[in-house]
Amino acid sequence: MEGIILKALSTRDKVSSEELAADNKVDHQEVVGAAKSLTAQGYIVADMETKPVWNISEEAKEIVEKGSPEYNLWKLLGDGDLPQSKVQEQFGKETTAVALANGMKSKLLKIDKSSGQPVLQRNAATASDEVRDLLQRIIGGGEANPKETEALKKRKLATLDNKKVFLYTKGPDYSVEVKAKAVGDLTREMLVTGAWKTTSFKEYNFSVPAEDIDGGQLHPLLKVRQEFREIFMELGFQEMDTQHWVESSFWNFDSLFIPQQHPARDLQDTFFISKPATSEVVQKELMAKVRAAHEAAFRTPWKEEEAKRNILRTHTTGSSAYTLFRLAQMSEKLPDGTLKFRPGRYYSIDRVFRNEEMDKTHLCEFHQIEGFVVGRNISLANMMHTFDKFFRRIGIERLRFKPTFNPYTEPSMEIFGFHTGLKKWIEVGNSGLFRPELLGPLGFDAGVSVMAWGISLERNTMIKYNISNIHELFGHRVNINFIKRSAIARF
Ligand code: PHE
Repeated sequence: MEGIILKALSTRDKVSSEELAADNKVDHQEVVGAAKSLTAQGYIVADMETKPVWNISEEAKEIVEKGSPEYNLWKLLGDGDLPQSKVQEQFGKETTAVALANGMKSKLLKIDKSSGQPVLQRNAATASDEVRDLLQRIIGGGEANPKETEALKKRKLATLDNKKVFLYTKGPDYSVEVKAKAVGDLTREMLVTGAWKTTSFKEYNFSVPAEDIDGGQLHPLLKVRQEFREIFMELGFQEMDTQHWVESSFWNFDSLFIPQQHPARDLQDTFFISKPATSEVVQKELMAKVRAAHEAAFRTPWKEEEAKRNILRTHTTGSSAYTLFRLAQMSEKLPDGTLKFRPGRYYSIDRVFRNEEMDKTHLCEFHQIEGFVVGRNISLANMMHTFDKFFRRIGIERLRFKPTFNPYTEPSMEIFGFHTGLKKWIEVGNSGLFRPELLGPLGFDAGVSVMAWGISLERNTMIKYNISNIHELFGHRVNINFIKRSAIARF
C-alpha cells in the first residue's frame, strides 16, 4: 500500500485517503495505516479533516430495496380494509407491528377495533414512501435536516458519524520508491561487503537525554580513604600490610605493653574468636622479651595462654608493632649495641572492631587511620609539626593537643582540630611516642623513637559529608542513593 500512495503522488499534488481506498478497492483504514508510517518517515504530509458520513443499517438497506413496511401496507390495503390477522399472515407479525407503528404516526394508516377484531384501514388517500425517499436521498449524497436525521437515528435506520479522512501531499523526504529503513549500527558485514556505501544511517540525536548509568559507586568512606592515602603518599609514607581482621592478643595487646589485666582485654570491650580460639605465637624470642618487660613492670605473672587468644583486632596498632619488629629484624645490630635501620614513615587505613554500645557516633566496627614515624631524635615538636601538615591537608588548620594516657605511649596526646563548619573543637585522633618498654623487646636501642597515632576514618568522613548519624554512613541503614550521589570528597 505504501508504494501505491507514493506512486499516486508522483502524478498528482495531492490525493485523499478516500480516493485511494476507492481506486484500489481497499479498506479506508488500510490506506490510513500505510500513510501513517510514510508520514512518520517524512515521505508524505497528511492533513486530517473530519467528514460526516452516514452509517446505514441493514434494515434501511432493505427499505431502499423493497419500500418501507408502512408504505407497503398502505399499498396492500388499497381501498378496502383488512383484518390485522390477515395482514400478519402476509407480512409477518414483526413487520406488521413496525408498519402499523410508523404508519399510524405518519397518519397513513389507522386501526378500527369497533367490531371486536382489529381491522386495518388507510388513513390517507394519497401517499408516498417518505422514509425510502429520505434514505435514497442521503445515500445519493443529499442532505437531511436535523429533524430527519433525528428520526432516522430514532428508528435505528441511519446515524451520522464523523469520519477522519486525510489529504496527502509530498513530504520533505518524498520519493516514489520506499527506501530501505535507516539503520542504527554499522556492522562488520557492511564494511566487508561495502554495503555501507549505499546504506542510509539514522542521524544522531544530540538532544536526547543520556541514559542513566547505574554502575557501581565508591562508598564515601572509600573516597575519603583514598584522599587520606594520597596525602600519606605525598608525605612519603608507605602502606602497612593490615589485611587480617583476626589478630592474636599477643600482637594486639602484649606486644604493645598492654597489661594482661587491662580492662580493654575484657569481654565487654573486645570480641574474642571461638574457632579457632587461639593461635601460636611463633616469635618465641620476642615473646620471652615481652614477657620479661611485662613481668618487670606489672609484677604479675605473664600468661602465654592469654597472649594466644584470638580476637577481632581492636586497633591496627598491632600492625605498627609488627612492622617495627620486621624492620628491626631486617636491620643490622652494630657492635656498640645500636641498630642500623632505615628511618621510615608508615600508615594504614583498615577496619577495627570493638564491643561497643552502638549509638549515633559509635559502631562495633570502624576504620582506623594508623600511622607512625620511626627515627632518631624524634621529639614531641616533630610530631606536632607532622600533625599540623597532615591535618592542614584535610582542611583542619588549627590543632590543639591534650595530654592523655595510653599504655603504649609516653607522652600521649589527644589531637583536637577546630572544625570551621561546626565552629568547635573536635577530637580527631590519639597519639604519642611509643614507650621504650615496647620498642626494646622489638629490637630497638634506647636512642630510637617512634611517634604514632590513630585517627577514625568515619569521624572525618562524617565531618566532610556533614553526617550527624554514623548509621547513615555505615551499615544496613545506609541509603543507596546517598552512596550514588555523594560527591568525591573535597577538602
Ligand atoms: N591505638 C589507639 C586507638 O585505638 C590510637 C593510637 C595509636 C594512639 C598509636 C597512640 C599511638 O585509639
